[in-house]
Amino acid sequence: DRAGLAEARQILRIGREVSPGRAALALVPTMGALHEGHRSLIRLARERAEHVAVSVFVNPLQFGPGEDYARYPRTFDTDLEVCAAEGVGVVFAPSAEEMYLPDRQVGVSAGRMGTIVEGASRPGHFDGMLTVVLKLFNLVRPDVAVFGRKDAQQLALIRRMVLDLDLPIEIVGAPTVREADGLALSSRNRYLSPHERTSALALSRALFAGAEQRTPAQIRRAARAVLDAEPGVDLDYLVLVDPATFTEVGEEYTGEAVLAVAARVGTTRLIDNVVLTLG
Ligand code: PAJ
Repeated sequence: DRAGLAEARQILRIGREVSPGRAALALVPTMGALHEGHRSLIRLARERAEHVAVSVFVNPLQFGPGEDYARYPRTFDTDLEVCAAEGVGVVFAPSAEEMYLPDRQVGVSAGRMGTIVEGASRPGHFDGMLTVVLKLFNLVRPDVAVFGRKDAQQLALIRRMVLDLDLPIEIVGAPTVREADGLALSSRNRYLSPHERTSALALSRALFAGAEQRTPAQIRRAARAVLDAEPGVDLDYLVLVDPATFTEVGEEYTGEAVLAVAARVGTTRLIDNVVLTLG
């Protein structure tokens, strides 16, 4: 809780001078149900800072009415073991009551980028996400925070918030960790039946097929063909976007682009993306 967090800061003497160029405290925000993807973020955080804090909080603000807040996996005891094994100094796991006052009113608005692509399918999601991330930054006061590129639009919005609100925190993006067969690790993968898991492989297969093409039109067409051929996948969107703004790139675009997909497999909604260099 909050008191425990203050105590942990004192015990670890976070905030003392550390060697130049090395941050004192890195934060890895999570919703728990920790897997190898989260572990890779923790390891990156340990390289970047003297101490690592992990937050475990299933944020009600970022779930829509029909979404899986109630059934989101909660595996706190195992999460603590994972954090201990990875050398995490502080685990901050507040309750929803401790995070949000009953009469709270003020929050972060994600702006236009919060309403497109993933934001179009999940109204309010990015406002709720940014609000909790800003609160976690203020409570934990890290020098560095580590986020996965698996949630590429989330990462872009957090970078945007740091710029627009002048937050004194360095944001580090970490590569997506995948199973050997390509499936991106996700806490939601545990909802998939064996048959659904096979269908879900079409997402990464489509992204890899797109990545082999050269032009935006070819990339979109190749990825789309793989998804269309998999009846178990109910496509939400497939986009090729500028990684900083999440707006669709044109045929003449050069530089890094994100090929991002969201789809429902059974009742489980999955997202994935790859970064490409065009031109
Ligand atoms: P959660 O889904 O638990 O993810 C926590 C962090 O782990 C995010 O930065 C996410 O991008 C990263 N991550 C998830 N799967 C990954 C994978 N396969 N490889 C690499 N990184 C991966 O994202 C959230 O929680 C929440 O929105 C949060 C930022 C904690 C705010 O509530």
